[in-house]
Amino acid sequence: MIEPHGSTELSPRYVSDAARRAELAAEAKNLPSLLVNSAAAANAVMLGAGYFNPLTGFQDLADAISIAEKMHTADGLFWPVPVLNLTKDAAGLEPGMRVALRDPNVEGNPVLAVQTIEKIEQVDEATLTRIAEKVFGTLDPKHPGVATFMSLGNVLLSGPIDVLNYSYFEQEFPDTFRTATQIREDMGSRNWETVVAFQTRNPMHRAHEELCRMAKDTLNADGILIHMLLGKLKAGDIPAAVRDASIRKMAEVYFEPNTVLITGYGFDMLYAGPREAVLHAVFRQNAGCTHLIVGRDHAGVGSYYGPFDAQTIFHDEVPEGALKIKIFEADHTAYSKKLNRVVMMRDVPDHTPEDFVMLSGTKVREMLAAGQDLPPEFARPEVARILMKFYQEEAAAGR
Ligand code: ADX
Repeated sequence: MIEPHGSTELSPRYVSDAARRAELAAEAKNLPSLLVNSAAAANAVMLGAGYFNPLTGFQDLADAISIAEKMHTADGLFWPVPVLNLTKDAAGLEPGMRVALRDPNVEGNPVLAVQTIEKIEQVDEATLTRIAEKVFGTLDPKHPGVATFMSLGNVLLSGPIDVLNYSYFEQEFPDTFRTATQIREDMGSRNWETVVAFQTRNPMHRAHEELCRMAKDTLNADGILIHMLLGKLKAGDIPAAVRDASIRKMAEVYFEPNTVLITGYGFDMLYAGPREAVLHAVFRQNAGCTHLIVGRDHAGVGSYYGPFDAQTIFHDEVPEGALKIKIFEADHTAYSKKLNRVVMMRDVPDHTPEDFVMLSGTKVREMLAAGQDLPPEFARPEVARILMKFYQEEAAAGR
C-alpha cells in the first residue's frame, strides 16, 4: 500500500493502549486545562486519527509562517495548511507544562487530548493576517474560513499531543467516522491497491456519482473511497447526517457491492480552496489512497477561487515528489441531453450550455423545499427523497 506522508508507517497520536489512556485521563484531572476552539479540536482529532501524519502536535509560529509562505515546515517537511492551537488567553500556562485540552463540541467539555506546551508565542496582527492571506488567498471577512481563522486568538500554543478520544465523531457517526489506520486496514483486507478517494461536503448527485465511476474506470482502480467531512460547516450547507444517509443510499442502489467504501473524517471545513485541496491529498495519502479526485471548485466557496485553481496548485506549487498520491483532475461534469449520459465537458466540445442539465445549489434547495421533484438526470430519486424530507422539515421549522 502507498506509504503515508513523511514516514514509512503511520504514527497516529491517539493513545491506543487502554491502560496508558486511563493513566493519561487520570493525569489530566490534575493538570491545568484549556477549552480549545473547534478548529484546534478538529486538528487534535485529525492528529489522533493519523490523518496528519507525521506531525506529532500543534505547530509553532516559525512553522506556521513557513507553511503559509512556502508550503513546508521550517525543517523542510512538505505541508500545506498550518495545524495550530490558537487561543485568546493562556494565563497560567507556561512552556514545559502539560495541559488538558477540553472539547468545545461535547457537553461538559471532556478532555480531548493532553498537550505538552513547548512554546507560547504571541502572534501580531500583521503576521496572523499574512498567514490567513496565504492560506485562504483572500482577507475578505465574509469568507467563512477567514472569518473563523481571524477569530481564534493571537496566542499560539505549540507542542506534541496525546489524544484520548475522537470528540463527537465516533458517537454521532459510528458507521461512517473512520481513522486513517482503520481505512488502511479495511482496504488491506479487501486487497485494494489502487484506490481513488472522493472528498465531499455535499450530497452526491448524478454528476458526482458518475465522476467517481469515471475515475475508477480510467484508473482501473480496485475501489472508491468516499470520504466525507463530518465536522463543522458554514450555515446553509447540508448537515453531515443527512448527507451521509443520502450517499449511503446512492451507493447501495447504484454501485456494485465491494467497490465503494463510505467513510468520513472529523474536521471542520476551511473553505480554503487550493490549499485545502492539497491538505486533502496529504490526508488521503495517509489513509492509503493512491488517487484523489479534484474537480470543479474543490473546497471552494463563493467566487473566491477560479474553478480549477485547486488543480493548478498541484502543478505550480507542489514540488515534484512531495506527495506520492496522484490527483485525478476532473473537468466540469454534467448530464448531456444530447448523449443521455453524464459527461465531462472537455469531452464534448460540440455542446452548448443548453445541452446540459444543470441546477444551482439555490435552485435545488428551492425545488426540494417546495416539494418539487428534481430531474432524474440531475439527481437519483432515492437521493432526492432524503434531501426533500430534510428541506421540508427545515421549511416547516422556519429555517
Ligand atoms: S468540496 O468542498 O468538498 O470540494 P463538493 O462536495 O461539492 O465540495 O465536491 C466534491 C468533489 O467533487 C470536489 O472534488 C469537487 O471539485 C467535485 N465536483 C463537484 N461538483 C462537480 C461538477 N459538477 N463537476 C466536476 N467536479 C465536481
